[in-house]
Amino acid sequence: MRAPEMRYLVARAASNPSELKGFLSFQMLHEETMDDDVMAQAAYCFEVQLVFSARGRGLGEFLMRLLERIGSYWHMDKVMLTVFKANKGAFRLYTEKLGFTLDEISPGACLSALRARRFDYEILSKPCNHQIENGSVLCKQ
Ligand SMILES: CC(C)(COP(=O)(O)OP(=O)(O)OC[C@H]1O[C@@H](n2cnc3c(N)ncnc32)[C@H](O)[C@@H]1OP(=O)(O)O)[C@@H](O)C(=O)NCCC(=O)NCCS
Repeated sequence: MRAPEMRYLVARAASNPSELKGFLSFQMLHEETMDDDVMAQAAYCFEVQLVFSARGRGLGEFLMRLLERIGSYWHMDKVMLTVFKANKGAFRLYTEKLGFTLDEISPGACLSALRARRFDYEILSKPCNHQIENGSVLCKQ
């Protein structure tokens, strides 16, 4: 968590800024693809964690959409993350709500069904939309 490359989006209570509601950590990474000669530029979400009382109210979706905008602003190819298959709620948020799909390097995408079953996680991604960004929210500070 203290890696110099790690970046954080921190959510605080509007009424009391010292009250933390959650965070999203991410790094800008070069990620492998199925083509040995091609690396992808990814805004990689390492963690998104909310305190229990802040869950189910749209904050997770908001933080993820902010990361999508940051990825677009910095002209990354995609936003990526790893999610445990057992985390059904988070899986639904990423896929059904936010439109993430299995990345090409995810076990479920690049292995046979039999081999993929040995993995307890999947890697999801979503292409960045470079059309949308020139917003002041994401100025280079
Ligand atoms: C996962 C997490 C970040 C989601 O944030 P959130 O603010 O609770 O989620 P949102 O309110 O933005 O949910 C948006 C959608 O995702 C789905 N969803 C999110 N969490 C869900 C859950 N626990 N169960 C079922 N569906 C869930 C719902 O479909 C919801 O859609 P709706 O608004 O139409 O109901 C948050 O619940 C959390 O911190 N969980 C514990 C840590 C964790 O599992 N982190 C993810 C690691 S990959």
